[in-house]
Amino acid sequence: MAKRYLLLADIRCSFQSLSAILITALIIGAIYLTSESGQLLTLLEDYGFSDGQVSNTNNVSLAECNLFAGKWVYDNKSYPLYKEQDCTFMSDQLACQKFGRKDLSYQHWRWQPDQCDLPRFNATRLLEKLRNKKMVFVGDSLNRGQWVSMVCLVEASIKPLFKSMHNNGSNLITFRAKEYNATIEFYWAPLLVESNSDDPVSHRLPERIVRAQAIEKHARHWTNADILVFNTYLWWRRPFMKILWGSFNEPEGIYKKVKMLRSYELALKSWADWLDIHIDRSKTRLFFMSMSPTHERAEEWGKSVGQNCYNETDMIARQGYQGHGTDPNMMKIVEKTIDELKTIRGLNVQLINITQLSEYRKEGHPSIYRKQWDPLTQEQQINPSSYADCIHWCLPGVPDVWNELLYAHIFNY
Ligand SMILES: *[C@@H]1O[C@H](CO)[C@@H](O)[C@H](O)[C@H]1NC(C)=O
Ligand SMILES: *[C@@H]1O[C@H](CO)[C@@H](O)[C@H](O)[C@H]1NC(C)=O
Ligand SMILES: *[C@@H]1O[C@H](CO)[C@@H](O)[C@H](O)[C@H]1NC(C)=O
Ligand SMILES: *[C@@H]1O[C@H](CO)[C@@H](O)[C@H](O)[C@H]1NC(C)=O
Ligand SMILES: *[C@@H]1O[C@H](CO)[C@@H](O)[C@H](O)[C@H]1NC(C)=O
Ligand SMILES: *[C@@H]1O[C@H](CO)[C@@H](O)[C@H](O)[C@H]1NC(C)=O
Ligand SMILES: *[C@@H]1O[C@H](CO)[C@@H](O)[C@H](O)[C@H]1NC(C)=O
Repeated sequence: MAKRYLLLADIRCSFQSLSAILITALIIGAIYLTSESGQLLTLLEDYGFSDGQVSNTNNVSLAECNLFAGKWVYDNKSYPLYKEQDCTFMSDQLACQKFGRKDLSYQHWRWQPDQCDLPRFNATRLLEKLRNKKMVFVGDSLNRGQWVSMVCLVEASIKPLFKSMHNNGSNLITFRAKEYNATIEFYWAPLLVESNSDDPVSHRLPERIVRAQAIEKHARHWTNADILVFNTYLWWRRPFMKILWGSFNEPEGIYKKVKMLRSYELALKSWADWLDIHIDRSKTRLFFMSMSPTHERAEEWGKSVGQNCYNETDMIARQGYQGHGTDPNMMKIVEKTIDELKTIRGLNVQLINITQLSEYRKEGHPSIYRKQWDPLTQEQQINPSSYADCIHWCLPGVPDVWNELLYAHIFNY
């Protein structure tokens, strides 16, 4: 087709019209080529990754791209990024397939930002970055799930004898990549500040008590980390907190009931003050994971009252959906705290905004397909309204995408 156009061109035509014809020919040629290799192009699009800085969906560089605005795309070619049974350190609380989940579509969703593509997760590249370094996830069980996901994402590229996991029986679990002298650790501190829930195993208490001004006991364990990833949200979700003035060891401590938002603000202030004084700005990268939504009330997405995330197999389609599993007022406090750290104290904490993209994923939770301390009994399994876990996330799944976003920030922002 392109050839015929060129033959039709009059050799006496002006320079302008010749170049116009040449451009037309090139465009038509390109269309021709595209239809020839259409299948290949479709495959590439499905694969949906770019390695470079400039995306193939748009002309926005990663550094300028809002990674948190986008959509989920079903992609069973390149997702999941690892197989559940292949991850040496998988947690039984998150291994939904192992505990009987049949519908596995939750493993196949890729996050597609509107303006650009996420960079491909390259475990070797991350491990190189972590050589002689220490990365610590600090927070609650949601953050622990993300840490497990991170370990699963990198461990496949490390030979068996060159990796280890050590739980020191206290708040710290350490994954070590020996060849790299790198560690990826999880530190249990669900409210960041000191609380009566600091025991990583027995922390289910009727009353929640925090020392909103005291963080040193935990923080001294991660002062020298190179990358810190924090979260704290769900443990605050009650109307009031009891704040303790004094120490947990003194029987005569003074307790005061304080509205949750106020106590959350106090705790984040203690956290920010601690960072300001102790963090080496030239060494440590700081990240804060925003709220992870829960899906415990199915009436919020049009099902009947009393149901929850159990039996869900697809996500919520409504753009911008926000359920009651998140609290925008808490998000505002986080934003304000991080903003002040940046502008007033010159400390760059990057907010990884996973809230909206996770809101859609009502089908991504373990529900009854999990082991808590013991596998659920049959009686519990037939009573999902009481026993379904609609808080944590199956792996592989949503937290892998959180880590892809974290990865993108580590390398590009
Ligand atoms: C595309 O990106 C390049 C390199 O960043 C820039 O020079 C150019 O102006 C951009 N074009 C558009 C249309 O945004
Ligand atoms: C988080 O991302 C969503 C989706 O882009 C956006 O609507 C929301 O404002 C963001 N929140 C914060 C605190 O950045
Ligand atoms: C991938 O998804 C497509 C579309 O849903 C389906 O036709 C195909 O069988 C799936 N392939 C695998 C390997 O699951
Ligand atoms: C991953 O990163 C390593 C180290 O930077 C590099 O040698 C390798 O080519 C990368 N792999 C891919 C598939 O890009
Ligand atoms: C190993 O990594 C730690 C940080 O986690 C660092 O302090 C130490 O110097 C490293 N060892 C070597 C031999 O580089
Ligand atoms: C566990 O590790 C932490 C942090 O290094 C340390 O303070 C604590 O004493 C250790 N606990 C045990 C039982 O080894
Ligand atoms: C689960 O979903 C299937 C298919 O939508 C439906 O037939 C079944 O009744 C549901 N089970 C419960 C317990 O809701």
